Amino acid sequence: MLTAAFIPLLVAGIAGSAAGQISGFNYDESKVPDYKLPDPLVFNSGKAVTSAKQWTSKRRGEVLELFRKEVYGRQPKDAPRLYSEELERSENALGGIAIRRQIRLYLGRRGEQPYMDLLVYQPNDAEKAVPVFMGPNFRGNHTTDHDPAIHAKEYHKGQSVVMEKRGEKAHRWQAELIVKSGFAVATVYYGDIDPDFDDNWKNGWHKYFPMDDPVKPDAWGSIATWAWGLSRVVDYLEIDDTLDHDKVALIGHSRLGKTALWAGAEDERFKIVISNNSGCGGAALSRRRFGETVERINQVFPHWFCDNFNKYNGNEDELPVDQHMLISLIAPRPVYIASATGDEWADPNGEFKSGKGAESVYALFGLKGLGVESQPKPNTPIGDAIGYHLREGPHDVMKFDWIQYIQFAKRHFEIK
Ligand code: GCU
Repeated sequence: MLTAAFIPLLVAGIAGSAAGQISGFNYDESKVPDYKLPDPLVFNSGKAVTSAKQWTSKRRGEVLELFRKEVYGRQPKDAPRLYSEELERSENALGGIAIRRQIRLYLGRRGEQPYMDLLVYQPNDAEKAVPVFMGPNFRGNHTTDHDPAIHAKEYHKGQSVVMEKRGEKAHRWQAELIVKSGFAVATVYYGDIDPDFDDNWKNGWHKYFPMDDPVKPDAWGSIATWAWGLSRVVDYLEIDDTLDHDKVALIGHSRLGKTALWAGAEDERFKIVISNNSGCGGAALSRRRFGETVERINQVFPHWFCDNFNKYNGNEDELPVDQHMLISLIAPRPVYIASATGDEWADPNGEFKSGKGAESVYALFGLKGLGVESQPKPNTPIGDAIGYHLREGPHDVMKFDWIQYIQFAKRHFEIK
């Protein structure tokens, strides 16, 4: 079995090929098989859902349950009490515009594992609580900005631990732009929640919430665990009066985009959800089998989903859901789906079509979704309650993406 440790090699190996493609998979639109998507607006009983009330009181729960059971697995029912400790603070960060805080969030006992370290930048001239962009990062908080004061931490590269360069992924976070736009930006390293490799769910927070032996087929995988960890960050935001916990936009890239969508489905305290290049198991429709497939993702990342998801390897048409129903679970909250031209592996058109498939649910609430019939040209943001763009360029988060997310959040949070 391949582990995540091999993935950077695989991905590096295809860097020279066209538009983020791994060979042996379909990238030809004309070869997408015929498929029929399950209708989010039909109850499991076969009856039609005709009102927002029916969706909210019953159908939404059915869909959520199908995803828990068949795709991501179940999170623990109860959240432990959280303890926070401010480890570091400056009133004068990011060249004088921001307050920087580094806060340790303990899940069990103060001073002991498990904990995660939250980095927050927020405007230092705000008169009231500020809206927040919150999201997990891949390689440690110190990689999200060049700021020398951010505590550095090693990240898990498969089973080994490696120290990444400070600021290596600063372009993905744009802290200055975000703070200048009146928002806070808050991030945690996802490996603080669950290191990203297959160890039969022994490490990370699984250690403290042990799995049954044998592991149940609907037990939470790593995506559900990361999502649950992000909900614990919101528990903290709720007790911090300088941050507006009613205006939290959750953002995730790639596997963390999958995580953001699932976190937004499980926890309605995320008021906006942003999926950046999330692809298979995220925004992209599984039935299209374009780029990455269910079988391939389950083989290469056996720890991401619950074991039941393996039933659909090469058998996508039997899934009781598809990813448009994951987008539907965010409704009526605004959701933004972003694709990139250089990211065929993530099936940009399948990501767009997922948004289309969720429009009927938004319509129940009188909301307009994407508002166009086919995928827009590159660098042309569209949509209302469901935002979408296809950015020119690679699988990444770029300034262009952030400019759209900030505009989208300002519009929906009604910020001037
Ligand atoms: C791999 C994987 C994708 C994932 C991506 C990432 O390419 O196949 O599903 O989105 O890694 O998270 O970087």
